[in-house]
Amino acid sequence: MKKYLPYLKLLFTRSQKITIDAIPNGSIIDIGGGGEGIIAQIGKNNVTVIDKHQGEIDEAKSKSPTSKWVLADATSLEYESGYFDNATAFFSGMYMSIETFEKVCEEVYRVLKNGGEFWIWDAEISENAGLFIIRLSVTLPNGKKIRTAYGSKIMKRSVTEIKQKLLNVKFQVEVIENQEKWFFLKAVKIS
Ligand SMILES: C[S@@+](CC[C@H](N)C(=O)[O-])C[C@H]1O[C@@H](n2cnc3c(N)ncnc32)[C@H](O)[C@@H]1O
Repeated sequence: MKKYLPYLKLLFTRSQKITIDAIPNGSIIDIGGGGEGIIAQIGKNNVTVIDKHQGEIDEAKSKSPTSKWVLADATSLEYESGYFDNATAFFSGMYMSIETFEKVCEEVYRVLKNGGEFWIWDAEISENAGLFIIRLSVTLPNGKKIRTAYGSKIMKRSVTEIKQKLLNVKFQVEVIENQEKWFFLKAVKIS
């Protein structure tokens, strides 16, 4: 029975609607961008996707062949400081411990140009036990709809924690939009 629990959970999880009207301009580093490759599908050759699992890259690569697909841990990036215009993370924070997330924020801050923005979409996890699953129906700027689900064993996560980690590494948090089970947050590097 236990092994069927995630599937049962998925069956009874209501889909969350997300409409992405835009992503940042210029060069983008997308953290944890494998799987569906949502940001790469929108930004195409402007996007450098970082993912630490080759399988996730392989799954997404064909959906945006002109993006750059890089197998790497985002806690340690090979790019020089100020290399990218902007950064994104679409439901990848929920796959990291909060300590790892802070290290990723440090690296993103470093590789962004001054004035660069970090756009984050992520799950608000209030449940305490077992596997958390979020089901999404994502509408891209061109109207394409992608239905997907992301699951994580992270116990709890809140936008307040994420905001605090961003502030710790000197980002300015400019926008927070709270939805039922997820949030969108925009932070800016002003050094
Ligand atoms: C489910 S995906 C998020 C959804 C994805 N952005 C998309 O467009 O479908 C989460 C990804 O984060 C990646 N990830 C987790 N920790 C990471 C890290 N420290 N560095 C790079 N990628 C990481 C995982 O390998 C996984 O592919």
